[in-house]
Amino acid sequence: MCGIIGYWNQEKDACPIIIESLKKLEYRGYDSFGFAIVLNNKLSVERKTGKVSSTEYQNFPGVIGIGHTRWATHGKITENNAHPHRDCFMKIAVVHNGIIENYQEIKNQLSKKGHNFLSETDTEVIPHLIEENIRNGLDFKEAVMDVCPLLQGRNSFIALSSDQEMIAFRNGSPLILGVKKNNKIPEIFIASDIQGFLDETRDVIYLDDNQIAIIKENLEFYDINTKKRIEKRLIRLDIDLKEAEKGSYPHFMLKEIMEQKKALRRAINQDDKNLMHLAREINEAKGIFFIGCGTAAKVCHIAEYIFSKIANKHVNFVQASEFENYNHFLIPETLVIAISQSGETADVLESLEIAKKRKSKIISITNTKQSSLDKISDYTFFINAGIEKAVASTKATTSQLIVVLLLAYACAGRLEEGKRILIDLIGKVNDMLNPRYELHIKKLAEKIYQEENIFIIGRGINYPLSLESAIKIMEVSYIHAQGFAGGELKHGPIALIKKDSPVIVLMSNDESKKEIISNAIEVKSRGAYVIGVSPENNPIFDYWIKTPNVEAETSPIVNLIPIQLLAYYLGILKGCDVDYPRSLAKSVTVK
Ligand code: M6R
Repeated sequence: MCGIIGYWNQEKDACPIIIESLKKLEYRGYDSFGFAIVLNNKLSVERKTGKVSSTEYQNFPGVIGIGHTRWATHGKITENNAHPHRDCFMKIAVVHNGIIENYQEIKNQLSKKGHNFLSETDTEVIPHLIEENIRNGLDFKEAVMDVCPLLQGRNSFIALSSDQEMIAFRNGSPLILGVKKNNKIPEIFIASDIQGFLDETRDVIYLDDNQIAIIKENLEFYDINTKKRIEKRLIRLDIDLKEAEKGSYPHFMLKEIMEQKKALRRAINQDDKNLMHLAREINEAKGIFFIGCGTAAKVCHIAEYIFSKIANKHVNFVQASEFENYNHFLIPETLVIAISQSGETADVLESLEIAKKRKSKIISITNTKQSSLDKISDYTFFINAGIEKAVASTKATTSQLIVVLLLAYACAGRLEEGKRILIDLIGKVNDMLNPRYELHIKKLAEKIYQEENIFIIGRGINYPLSLESAIKIMEVSYIHAQGFAGGELKHGPIALIKKDSPVIVLMSNDESKKEIISNAIEVKSRGAYVIGVSPENNPIFDYWIKTPNVEAETSPIVNLIPIQLLAYYLGILKGCDVDYPRSLAKSVTVK
């Protein structure tokens, strides 16, 4: 949540470069933005509500600056609460990502000492704490280093002084430096994501937790715990820039749905030895937990069914935000498998920190190399889906499912057969994602987009998929959607079904077919408009979306793709900002 950027050089105006970065980081939060530029020992600050890509702002001259695009946590969406925040003398500006859990306590103490606060944010305590330390005789570097350990929670920030010194601190949320060396004096970028500077350089330095980067005449790194200087490695990234662009597509979401053809192929391309090794670990573990949040949590939930069906193995699924209720079960022989596209989701990382303390083994499935999740894990499977920019996860979700399936097949000693099944499935996904199919789904969207509620039902593996379908529809179109286990409807929710209520019936070629059709008949009897998503048509369906006939355990992939398209077209018809739904952010780095 929140995108932060710092830019330092000696000749180019910083403002346009920071603005470009903020546009790239906008997916991390987009309710307001701001920046600070330093020139002649003076900080000029602009802060605005709205998205940086569609709001007017003023430019300031100066070659050094910081910027922020906000997802509000503490304090309403106002200019005053937008970052950067400053100290009493307007000599220090700070952009921040995270939540300072003890900010109220700090704020009270600082207020007693006469500090004047202008916002409702937690962030504002940082510049005032730095100011207080400077008043007590410390220099800027010492002052910042003293502040870092005082902040409880996961916090990363960049502080800029009117003396042209910039310091970035990481704890919990990512901060990556980009170094561009076209001439002797480098340009330095610090961003919460490589996308903040990918257009400019692919030479990066990953800051680790409790480290700071200081940029003045030189670039230096320090460890906050030891206060000693450290050396950091420059890494050259191998990333295709086109991945971060929409190309000819109107939206990232549509582009990413279509990219599933290629992404799934990359996901399948895992190292067999590692799959087999980790499958053995899964088979030997005492207790296996799959954890994740949001859509990734739904993949974990589907994993329960996949492992049961393919490997005859019981695994537990827990939403990471609820994992603290289960973590007392963790022992060194327990295996925790975390799924996260970004690898930065706070609830997942906090759960894993506990697992680590209890010496349980951690395997992760993520899209992001060098993410916090990658770093904390004993082994990481990269799904290689390519950059996923739309807030609604699509290609990462199905790619995660591929890796889960591979692991389950490996556990069952059927890896080779499993790979053949998946390659066949990917061929079918290729055929499915064609313009005619898209149009057919668009027509359905045109029929139902004005509805207030959409119900989705499924049995067996289609039950957790119904929950994921509901997330997709809700976040992109703002239509209330809810997924139910087919058998549960008559225990309450059926009371909501009335004439023309759209009910999507997710069906696979498995033993639950007859029963889900009975559930469809029950809602149809109450007037529902029944939409079948299945390999076979049925007279009970008012609208049918054909899916490829695949093994039941792999069917979540092919059943989900039409729902992703439906969610996209519902969002478009409702006039929603499909790539940047309101109140959401791509990477949820706060609890
Ligand atoms: O980066 P992660 O996979 O950990 O993100 C988890 C959720 O925040 C994410 O899946 C969210 O639910 C998406 N908006 C769903 O489309």
